[in-house]
Amino acid sequence: MTSVQSEKLEKLHAIDRECIHLEQIASLLHWDQETYLPEMGAEDRSDQLALMEGIYHERFTSPEIGKLLAELGSTSDNPRGDEKLPDIERDFLRVVRKEYDKAVKLPNEFVIAMAKAEGLSQAAWVKARKENDFPSFLPHLVKMIDFAKQGAVYWGYTGNPYDGLLDIYEPGMDSAAIDAVFIPLRERLSVLLKDISSKPAPDVSFLSRGYDTSVQAKFNEELMKKLGFDTRRGRLDVSAHPFTIELGSEDVRITTRYFSDLLFSAIFSTIHECGHAFYEMSIPKELRGTSIGCGASMGVHESQSRFWENVLGRSLPFWETFFPLIKKHFPKELADVSVEKFYQAANEAKPSLIRVEADEVSYCLHIILRFELEKKLFSGELDPADLPGVWRQRMKEIIGVEPETDSDGVLQDTHWSGGMFGYFPSYALGNLYGLQFYEKIKSDIPNFSAGADKDNFAQLHAWLNDNIYVWGRRLEPPELLKKVTGQKLGSDAFLNYIETKYRGIYRL
Ligand code: CO
Repeated sequence: MTSVQSEKLEKLHAIDRECIHLEQIASLLHWDQETYLPEMGAEDRSDQLALMEGIYHERFTSPEIGKLLAELGSTSDNPRGDEKLPDIERDFLRVVRKEYDKAVKLPNEFVIAMAKAEGLSQAAWVKARKENDFPSFLPHLVKMIDFAKQGAVYWGYTGNPYDGLLDIYEPGMDSAAIDAVFIPLRERLSVLLKDISSKPAPDVSFLSRGYDTSVQAKFNEELMKKLGFDTRRGRLDVSAHPFTIELGSEDVRITTRYFSDLLFSAIFSTIHECGHAFYEMSIPKELRGTSIGCGASMGVHESQSRFWENVLGRSLPFWETFFPLIKKHFPKELADVSVEKFYQAANEAKPSLIRVEADEVSYCLHIILRFELEKKLFSGELDPADLPGVWRQRMKEIIGVEPETDSDGVLQDTHWSGGMFGYFPSYALGNLYGLQFYEKIKSDIPNFSAGADKDNFAQLHAWLNDNIYVWGRRLEPPELLKKVTGQKLGSDAFLNYIETKYRGIYRL
C-alpha cells in the first residue's frame, strides 16, 4: 500500500467513523423512545430522529466518499478496490461501496416520495388491521410494491427484482438458493407438525400462575449474567417489543417484556436478545466503530439469537442447570413442576395463525408462506388483490389452520406496509445457519452440552468468537458459512435437529 493510498483510506475511515457515530446517536434517541420516553415527548422525538436521519444521509452520500472510493480502485464492478491493499481494508471498501451505491443510485425525489408513501401506508395498515379491512390497505400495498420494484431497477437488477430486495437483508443470497432449502423444509416440517397435532398437548397451565414481574426481572438479570452478558458493557431494560441496539463500541443494550401470566415470554426474549448482543459485543476491537464492525447480515444475526434461545435455551441440559435457579425465585409457583415438565412446556408445538407466536417447528412454515407470496408478487404471477384468498388457502395447506379474518391472516405483519419485501426469509435462514454452525460446534467441542458449560459459557463464547464474531461484516453470509462449516446453505442440519428433538418430546 502506498502512502497516498493510506492517506486516502484514513480520510475514508474518518468519514465512516462519523457516520457510525451519527447512527449511534440516532440509536440512543430510538432506544430512549422505546424504553423511558414520556408519552408527551413523542412528537419532538420523531422530529429529532428525522433530523438525524437527514444529517446521516447527507454525510453518507457526500461525493467525497465516491471520490475516495474511486481513488482507491473501488468501483461497482470491483468493489474491493486495489489488489495491493490489505484484505481487511478491501473488505471495508466492498461494504462501503455497496452501501454507497445503494444510497446514491436512488434519485432524491424518489426517496422523498417513497418515504411519504411509506408513512401513509403504515397508517393505513394499522387501521386496516384493526378493522379487518384489507381492501382499504390494498392501494397502499400496490404502491409499496411498485416503489420496491423501481428501487431494484435503480440499483441495476435486471432479473426478478425480488432478488435485488433479498440482497439488502441477506447479501449474496437469491431466490433460487432459498428455494432449494425452503422446499424440503416445507415438506418435512408440514409432516412433523401434522404428526405432533395427533398427540396430546403438554400441560402448560403452570405458566400462567401469576409470576410477580419484579421477581421475574431479578431472575432475568441473573440469567443473562450467567450466559456471559457483561453488564459493564450493556444493560437490560423493558420495552413493548424486545430488541437489541448498539449505542457504542462498549455499549450494547437489550430489552425484554414481562407478563405475570406468561412466564416464558420474558425468559426467551431475554435469551434471544442476549444472542444478538453477544455478537455485537464481541466484534474485534479493530473493526468496531466501522462499517464492517457489525454482524454479517440479518440472517446471521438471527442464527445467533435463535441458537441461544432455542437450541440452547429450550434444551433439557440447559434447564437441568437453570431450573433450580428459577425455582429459588418462585418456590411456591413451581413447587409441583419437574424439570421435564418445564422442558416439555418450553417446547410445545401446535399449528397457529400468528407468526410471532409460532413455535420452533411451525416458525419456518410461516416464513416460507410469506416468501412464496413475495416471490409471486414480484414476478407478476400473483395479483395483490388476490392475497387474502391465497393466504388462507396456503395456510391451510402448509400449516393446517385457516384464519377467519385478514387481521389474523395477511394483515398480521408490519413488514409489507413499510416496504420491507425480502426481509422475511432472513428469519428462517437464521435457523438454518444456526444449526449448520452447531454441527461444527459439536465436532469441535467434544461432549458439548448446553448445561455443562457452566463457566458463563466460556467454551462456547470462545468458539463463536474464533469462528463467527471475528469476521464482523467482512464476509457475506455464503462466504462465512463456507469458511466456518465448509458447506453451502442446507436444510438437513436444522431438519435433523428438529425431527429428533420433537419426535422425542412427543414420542412419535
Ligand atoms: Co432477533
